Amino acid sequence: MVKLARSFACQDCGMTFSKWTGRCSGCGSWNSIVEETTEVRPKGAKSHTGSRLDFQDLDGVSKSVERKKTHISEFDRVCGGGLVPGGALLIGGDPGIGKSTLLLQVSAQLAKNNRVIYITGEEGIDQIRLRGKRLDLVQAPIRLATCTNVNDILKTLNQEKDLDVVIIDSIQTMYLDNLDSAPGSVSQVRACTLELIQCAKKNNIILFLVGHVTKEGAIAGPRVLEHMVDTVLYFEGDRSHVFRILRTVKNRFGPTDEIGVFEMGEKGLDPVDNPSALFLSDRKQSIAGSSVFAGMEGTRPVLVEIQALVQPTFLATPRRAVIGWDQNRLAMILAVLESKCGIKFSGQEVYLNVTGGFRVQEPAADLAVAAALLSAHLRRPLPHKAIFLGEIGLTGEIRPVSHGNQRLKEAHKLGFIHAWVPKSKVQYTGGHFSINTLNFIYELVEHIQQL
Ligand code: TYD
Ligand code: MG
Repeated sequence: MVKLARSFACQDCGMTFSKWTGRCSGCGSWNSIVEETTEVRPKGAKSHTGSRLDFQDLDGVSKSVERKKTHISEFDRVCGGGLVPGGALLIGGDPGIGKSTLLLQVSAQLAKNNRVIYITGEEGIDQIRLRGKRLDLVQAPIRLATCTNVNDILKTLNQEKDLDVVIIDSIQTMYLDNLDSAPGSVSQVRACTLELIQCAKKNNIILFLVGHVTKEGAIAGPRVLEHMVDTVLYFEGDRSHVFRILRTVKNRFGPTDEIGVFEMGEKGLDPVDNPSALFLSDRKQSIAGSSVFAGMEGTRPVLVEIQALVQPTFLATPRRAVIGWDQNRLAMILAVLESKCGIKFSGQEVYLNVTGGFRVQEPAADLAVAAALLSAHLRRPLPHKAIFLGEIGLTGEIRPVSHGNQRLKEAHKLGFIHAWVPKSKVQYTGGHFSINTLNFIYELVEHIQQL
């Protein structure tokens, strides 16, 4: 007889406990622990005795795989140049960000040369048809089904002939009826994913799984699935903005850190070939508190505007609010400016914003952040066509960054003519720039004071 074991699992990070607690010691979230039951094999039950492994040489010849291209430029880029048959992809993102829209567009492209099925557990067929009409894709030979029972899906995948692509929207709605926890719980989501991936690999099908990222309720986030799939893409952006960024977090078949930029319009998502121009399009002429950073996202440079606002406060602990950058790095830069340059930020509220809903993750943005803060604090606008690159160390030194010339080239393309960069052994070759090299942060303060 199959016995049931009880355990308690965190729905955010997947950590399991023997007792219920209010706060997960793994990820620190509150009220995320839910009781779950799993089957245990009775003691003494026969298990598979195993067989000896066959080993292969490293220099053997493997079949070269042909990647399937979607011809949606930004999507192919984040997938490392196309999709690999048998690969499992997870697309995570907040509800309403545009995952279903993207996948419908992707499946319509793939359906031109492949057999594609789209299984939804969230919406009705009518809703998808309506979306298809809006996107002008009704002619695409995609086959739709609504289903939440994974056993039905597995049977279909095993029996359908020549399937190439399957889309499951979303994994949180799927369930296996031999588990008695609710759909969306960690054990359901894990078990369903495992079954679906095994079945897709066996049949050489490309499997797309949609996963919602959400903190509340009993919904297990896609984080618990990251290790099972081959590729993890996160769809990010602010719903109030039109830009959406598809970011590769993991890819067994290509580079990570790649981004694809899309614009959400009336007729779905449009790839944006030149994101820098888009991120800077609303930039006003020289205003204090605004600087431009030339960042690298994977293999391509992206220019973004960084804005800072500094104003006096009467609060004992002044506010420091950050959107699109790391709060701890802001604290560090404020401390360096205060201790190495004597610029006082205590008694001042500091707000920092990366425009366009973009998230900057590189330390190379330190100098641009410092420039925006100084410009706001000293009320001196920076030159309009200037970019800033450089990491700031705790001693106030400006450290070199990678891909300096590539970043300058992109900035040159967009008409930038001034650059503040770290002193480096590598020669800067962007001939049209007036380049200011810096060793220490106080040199930047002097430059800005003279503007
Ligand atoms: P959706 O793909 O349903 O999001 P998700 O699957 O991630 O939950 O898209 C949701 C939003 O996108 C919705 O608010 C409407 C908007 N949208 C457009 O702006 N243009 C379009 O062409 C489509 C199809 C949707
Ligand atoms: Mg959806």
